[in-house]
Amino acid sequence: MNILYIGGGFVGACSAAVSAASGHNILVFDIDTEKIKKLGAKDRNIIESCLFEKGLGDLLVQHSDRITFSSDYADLEVFLDACDVVFMCLPTPEIGETGESDVSYYVGAAEKLASSLIKRNKGKQERYVVIVNKSTVPIDMIDRTEEILDAAGVKNYGVVSNPEFLVEGKAVQNSLKPDRVVVGAKTEKDFAVMREVYQRFFDATDIVYLEVNPKEAAAGKLLANFYLFNKLGVCFDVVGRTCEAFDGIQFEKVRKILASDVRIGNWGFYNSMYAGGSCFIKDARSLSHQLQKAGKAACLVEETYLANKRQLTLFLSRAKTEAGISWKDKTVALVGLAFKRDTNDVRNSPSIDIMHMLEEEGVGHVYAYDPAAKDVFAKLFPASQTLTYVDHEYDAVTRADVVIIATDWPQFRGLGDMIIAHGSTPLVMDGRRMLQHRYEDMIAAGCSIIAVGSPYFS
Ligand SMILES: NC(=O)c1ccc[n+]([C@@H]2O[C@H](COP(=O)([O-])OP(=O)(O)OC[C@H]3O[C@@H](n4cnc5c(N)ncnc54)[C@H](O)[C@@H]3O)[C@@H](O)[C@H]2O)c1
Repeated sequence: MNILYIGGGFVGACSAAVSAASGHNILVFDIDTEKIKKLGAKDRNIIESCLFEKGLGDLLVQHSDRITFSSDYADLEVFLDACDVVFMCLPTPEIGETGESDVSYYVGAAEKLASSLIKRNKGKQERYVVIVNKSTVPIDMIDRTEEILDAAGVKNYGVVSNPEFLVEGKAVQNSLKPDRVVVGAKTEKDFAVMREVYQRFFDATDIVYLEVNPKEAAAGKLLANFYLFNKLGVCFDVVGRTCEAFDGIQFEKVRKILASDVRIGNWGFYNSMYAGGSCFIKDARSLSHQLQKAGKAACLVEETYLANKRQLTLFLSRAKTEAGISWKDKTVALVGLAFKRDTNDVRNSPSIDIMHMLEEEGVGHVYAYDPAAKDVFAKLFPASQTLTYVDHEYDAVTRADVVIIATDWPQFRGLGDMIIAHGSTPLVMDGRRMLQHRYEDMIAAGCSIIAVGSPYFS
């Protein structure tokens, strides 16, 4: 099949790569010329310098004969003549702090696409084309997509909602072997087209392939994200807080008690200072906004959002309230800049809020480190007289009065040994419980510790 992806970000690039690996001919169109150049470079290192996703570089290089990247709209228009499916993979961020999804990227791209679709096959529009929404959008977006296409006079088309469930950091792995594929369509014809797109998943015995209507698909995506976000909120704000409130309760032990109950399940017991990233927060906000717009209460959804926000504020405030320190003139190691490990994505990373807080509080100097996200983070916070990016975590933690661990990169588990061997005695703020196996030794060596899910140790 000939498949067009509009938007070559985390979702577009990863699912396009997997489509190419499934034997389809792919064009990825994105307005970001630098990104397109790097993704199309046929060089793993260049590709991953732009989108750091395990396996993406190899897959794109391996299948480069079936996938083209372009930011020239003329290429897209030529491709449309023989195109079977168009995947819309556009950003849908929150508008300010309103909860409402900003669908302007999606609508803009759909309107432009519509004006090109009417010209296909020399204006005869003979070829049937399915427009598939992969972005996470408001539940009624399918109707708006049809309105846009109809208003432009597009003929011979279908619309499908096919939400993406990939997890950043495992995006390629998830796209090659998803837990489930959800296809929301209105007609058997469109379901049939999608089965052909996803033949390898449709035929697989261990992948759930679900055919529903488009609104069920869109609602299912938002609700699934809310459910996961809520589990994290409960972990941070109830389980972790209980462990912080009482001496002698180890979070990891309590977690095992809870997770061994199959009704509770074992996902989501990662105590952390914040659940960041591009999806959970905005999707919960969008769900809440849509429920309230429909005249329904959204108290639990709102409370989950607030629990996550509260977690970061409370964690950072413990430096003053429990350790009694002032940030003014302190030297801080900020270890981890990506919102989580295995990605260079910094959207809603707690390190952004931490940097703002440190700047406001008059911090002396910040030494920042991340194995993948330094360059992306430096676009938001350029190196300065008070901010230095270092090439190894050692260069950050051994200079600091306060070490803040903000990302769960596995290598950070070695920071305890590093600090003890160096002989320094910083306040360690462990926002991910990366060093819990070394807390006792670190305290014995003179460090003090503030960790999510533990009382203050000194
Ligand atoms: N990132 C995830 O883990 C994830 C998972 C599931 C669903 N989603 C959803 O998928 C959608 C895309 O997310 P993402 O993380 O890939 O975003 P992204 O920001 O990484 O990628 C979006 C891309 O669209 C491009 N773009 C913007 N306007 C365009 C236009 N008019 N024409 C062509 N390209 C245009 C941008 O340049 C960017 O490269 C969002 O709705 C998101 O909520 C994301």
